[in-house]
Amino acid sequence: MEYIKPDLTKARKRTGSNTEEIDFVLEDQYKNIGLGKNYHVITFGCQGNEADSEVMSGILEEMGFKESIKEEADVLIINTCAIRENAEERFYGTVGGLKALKQNKKDMIICICGCMPQEEKTITKILDKYPQIDVVFGTHNIHMLPKYISNALESKKRIIEVYSTEGNIVEKLPHIRVSNKKAWVNIMFGCDEFCTYCIVPYTRGKERSRRPEFIIEEVKDLVSKGYLEVTLLGQNVNAYGKDFKDIDYTFSNLLLDLSDTGIARIRYTTSHPRDLDEATMKAMQRPNVMPHLHLPVQSGSDAVLKKMNRKYTHDEYLEKINKLREYNPGISITTDIIVAFPTETEEDFNATLKLCDEVGFEGAFTFIYSPREGTPAAKYENNITNEEAHRRLDLLHDKINAGYLKGNKRFENKVVKVLVDGVSKNDPNTLCGYSEHNKLVNFKGNKDSIGTIVDVRITEAKTWFLIGEEVE
Ligand code: 5AD
Ligand code: SF4
Repeated sequence: MEYIKPDLTKARKRTGSNTEEIDFVLEDQYKNIGLGKNYHVITFGCQGNEADSEVMSGILEEMGFKESIKEEADVLIINTCAIRENAEERFYGTVGGLKALKQNKKDMIICICGCMPQEEKTITKILDKYPQIDVVFGTHNIHMLPKYISNALESKKRIIEVYSTEGNIVEKLPHIRVSNKKAWVNIMFGCDEFCTYCIVPYTRGKERSRRPEFIIEEVKDLVSKGYLEVTLLGQNVNAYGKDFKDIDYTFSNLLLDLSDTGIARIRYTTSHPRDLDEATMKAMQRPNVMPHLHLPVQSGSDAVLKKMNRKYTHDEYLEKINKLREYNPGISITTDIIVAFPTETEEDFNATLKLCDEVGFEGAFTFIYSPREGTPAAKYENNITNEEAHRRLDLLHDKINAGYLKGNKRFENKVVKVLVDGVSKNDPNTLCGYSEHNKLVNFKGNKDSIGTIVDVRITEAKTWFLIGEEVE
C-alpha cells in the first residue's frame, strides 16, 4: 500500500472546496472484528483531542473492542498534540516505551493520530526510527479507523494515510464519553486565523462549521440522557457559521438555540477576541450560559500582537472586556499568554503584565514561545535566552496567581452552585466540582450529590480552589 504523506504547503491553502456532511456508518464487514480484543487510547493535548478520542473509543466499541489497560491492548491509539515542542517530546517519550510493550504482546497494533502526523517531520522520524508504529493517520480521517484497523490486523503492513486538506464533516459519529454529566460538543473544526506562531491552521485545516440542526439534536439527546453541562468546542468558536453560504446563523444564534434546549450549563472554548461580538455577549446573559470566558490575549504589547497577527490591539482587547462586563457583570475571565515571542522586549513584556492588572484575569495558561516548523514566526530571529524566557514566565506566574486568588476571594462567604464531579483525589471525605464561574470547589457534602448541581457555602478561598460546605 502506498503511503499518503502530509504536505504543509498544501495544508496552508484555503481553497473553495465545498464541505459536505456525511453520516458515519460502520460497514458490516468491520462490525465484529474487535470481538474478544481490547483497545486503549492515550490522549495528549487540547479538548479537541479529548473529544476525538471519545469518538475513536466509540468507533472501536462498535467494532466489538473493549477498553483495557495499555499492557493488554490489541489496538493502542496515541492521539498526539503538536502545539509546542514539549508536547512532541512527551509523545516521543511515550513511544520509546512502546517497544518493550510490543515485545510482550507481538500482535499489538500501535496507531498514531492527531496533530503530529500532519507535520512532515513527524512522518520522516517515524519512518526512520519507530518500526513499532503500525498505523499513522491525521486529524481529517479518524472516521476511517475501521478500515485501517481491519487492514493492519489482516496484512500486518504499515499504513500511513495523512490528508493535508480537510474533507467532509462527519455526523452521527459514536462517542464513549468519559463523563455521564459533562460532554464535549464539537461545533466547528479548523482555524483560518493563522497567528504566526501557531501550527493549528495547518494541522486542523480550514474553518468548517457543523450545521446547527445537528448540534442542537446532539445537545437535546444529551439532555434526555441526563447530561447537565456541554462545552462547545472549536479553535475559534466566535467564527462559527461564517462559512455558511445559505443561512445567516452565527455563534450567538447557536448559543440562544442551545440555551433553549434546557441544558443546565453551557460553556465554550476557545474564543478569538477579534470575533467576539456583542450579540454573543448578550446571549451570555442567559442563565444557563456560564459566567466564564476564556479569551486568549497572548500578549499585551501592540508590537508583539502585530507580529503575532492577532489583528487587535491592547486597547481593543480592553474595550471588548469592558463591553463584556457591561453585559455580564461579575463574569470570570481567563486567558492564554505567550512570553518570549521573538523580538519581545522588556517593555513589551511589561505591557503584558500591565494588561493582566487592567483586565483582572482570574487564571491563565502561560507558555514560553516554541518555534513550530512551517509557521512564519519560526523564521523570525529570536535572541531571547532561555534564562530570560523563564524569568519572564516566573514573573507572569506571580501576577496570574495573584489574580487567581483575588478572583477566588470574591466568593468567600457566598453560596455558589457546584456541579459535583466526585470525591476529591486528595481526600476521600471531600467532594469536588466546578462552580458556574469555573472555580474548582472542594467541599464537605453528601456523596449522593455526585452528578448533581448543589449549593455550596464558600468558607475559604485558596489560590487554586475554593473550600466550602454543602448547604442542606
Ligand atoms: N508556542 C507557545 N505557545 C503556543 N500556543 C500556540 N502556539 C504556540 C507556540 N508556538 C499557545 C497559545 C494558544 C494556546 C492553545 O497555546 O497561547 O492560545
Ligand atoms: Fe492557533 Fe491563533 Fe487559530 Fe488559536 S486562533 S488555533 S492561536 S491560529
